[in-house]
Amino acid sequence: MTDEDSSDFLRVVATEEDIRLALDRLAAAIRADYADRDLLLVGVLKGAVMTMADLARRLPATVPMDWMAVSSYGAGTRSSGVVRILKDLDADVTGRNVLIVEDIVDSGRTLAWLVANLRSRGAASVEVAAMFRKPDAAVIKTDVRYVGIEIPNEFVVGFGLDYAERYRGLPFVAALAPHVYGGAPS
Ligand code: IMP
Ligand code: MG
Repeated sequence: MTDEDSSDFLRVVATEEDIRLALDRLAAAIRADYADRDLLLVGVLKGAVMTMADLARRLPATVPMDWMAVSSYGAGTRSSGVVRILKDLDADVTGRNVLIVEDIVDSGRTLAWLVANLRSRGAASVEVAAMFRKPDAAVIKTDVRYVGIEIPNEFVVGFGLDYAERYRGLPFVAALAPHVYGGAPS
């Protein structure tokens, strides 16, 4: 193991406190909206793990959690919108009120596909909670009912978000320094 170095990051985009406050706000809104309906949380692996853990602990402990893993076809840092299911839900969503828990909405392509997919399975409702959202999200009209923190259009890591599977465990979110992309040995 090697500790992360603070020089790996250009600047902090969302502090631990920012994230805590946003999660409190999200949970309060979700509690109110689902006060008289059953809810199924669907986390999108792997990025949403931290958001799911912290959100679920702010909701009634009876709320069930399920997980999907999806992958966008195509190389590069942009998602193509063509999505492949790597791990499907265990639960049957027919007639259920699904809340997709996402790490970040960038183009919104992955999310648009997921929402359509879960609707097609006969879910009673499908809504989205995303911890972070970038301005490009405006391009594809996906209705994200719950947004934690709006962040600028730059590549960030932390709180579940990775670069090459690294930095997911960072408790805050930071913009990555260019030298990290350069492939410095780990
Ligand atoms: P979209 O389909 O363009 O909205 O892609 C969203 C997915 O890309 C997210 O669920 C993340 O997994 C990943 N992603 C988008 N922006 C970032 C980022 O800044 N850092 C790390 N992962 C990102
Ligand atoms: Mg994701």
